[in-house]
Amino acid sequence: MFSGVLERVKMVLKLPNNVQNKRLPIVIAFLLFISVLYLVLYRENGEQSGSSSEIIKQNWDSFSSVVKLEPTVEFRNGTDIIWQIPDSPKAILFLAHGCDGKAANFWDRSSKCPNCVGLPEERLLTLNALARKFAVIAVSSAEACWSFKEERFTVKDIIEWWIAKQKLQHLPLVALGASSGGYFVSILATDLRFSSITVMIIEGLYDQMEIPESYPPTLFVHMPKDKSRMQKLKRFAILLKGKGIDVAEVKCLEFPLSPSLFADRIPGIDVATSAKLFSLFQEKGFIDKNGFMTNDGRDIHWNKTLQERGIVLPDKSLSKHIEEEMNLAFAFHEMTSLQSEQIFNWFETHLS
Ligand SMILES: *[C@@H]1O[C@H](CO)[C@@H](O)[C@H](O)[C@H]1NC(C)=O
Ligand SMILES: *[C@@H]1O[C@H](CO)[C@@H](O)[C@H](O)[C@H]1NC(C)=O
Repeated sequence: MFSGVLERVKMVLKLPNNVQNKRLPIVIAFLLFISVLYLVLYRENGEQSGSSSEIIKQNWDSFSSVVKLEPTVEFRNGTDIIWQIPDSPKAILFLAHGCDGKAANFWDRSSKCPNCVGLPEERLLTLNALARKFAVIAVSSAEACWSFKEERFTVKDIIEWWIAKQKLQHLPLVALGASSGGYFVSILATDLRFSSITVMIIEGLYDQMEIPESYPPTLFVHMPKDKSRMQKLKRFAILLKGKGIDVAEVKCLEFPLSPSLFADRIPGIDVATSAKLFSLFQEKGFIDKNGFMTNDGRDIHWNKTLQERGIVLPDKSLSKHIEEEMNLAFAFHEMTSLQSEQIFNWFETHLS
């Protein structure tokens, strides 16, 4: 068998057959070295991003000169509706949060929305949408997670009522849902006519529905570290393609945190606090020496360690924001705005 490998090496390297076999171990050692180097650089088949500066192109205030978050909050059919329409909107985006989420996560707290939370990824998705002239509407689920029965009809009602009230019937409608919201959007797409959808960090409910031929183009934005979801999603992508539906995927990979990450992404966290958090988390082993999260933010008791160290957050509620960024960097299951360019390109190339 070993000689078979030697023959392969000779073939791959196009070495003449008369090359002395003595040199081959050196060649093999060299090749092994290259392979190991490759594996180290592209751990897990390249499922890792280079550096945070490569992947993080937008800071929390990147849009400050372009667009402001100025939502309108309404209450209808027993739930919150929060929306914002930019000048000359070209489409409408419906946003569906994940379990324990709410519409208020997509806008910053302000006099117009005193109960808004402004989670870092959610608010950046909204800002990206508004900057690209999408009117944005978010609704809160009745329970912690979305229900896939009656709630579909309530939300369909709400969206249609709102579109008519705002006189936006002429605009194409798109949707983005993450996790439970991704399941919800995948099935809502059989009730409402979306020109395209984004199903984030989940495989969709494609084994529980009749998929009509008119089903909208579907972009899966997923985290390959969550292998079982990825496998289901790949099967569903093939199923949808088999029905002639346009499907694409965007992979979200783990990336290293930097000392300024929390300040870059979260309004209200300054650079000094961000650096203190980073070094504390590294000391505690939550972040490894290369800056990668060693675990999901939900699985570590990181905020107890703040008290130990006397780090005081300007607002206790910011621990949710910090956790979201840790989950994002770990890249197993979290709302993400990092792929906004691909997401909005997808919507824009499928407007009809
Ligand atoms: C939502 O509220 C409106 C106005 O009160 C009502 O007409 C409609 O039937 C409600 N829809 C659902 C699904 O409950
Ligand atoms: C720790 O996190 C929990 C859940 O996010 C939060 O309710 C609590 O206030 C946090 N504690 C501190 C000290 O920030």
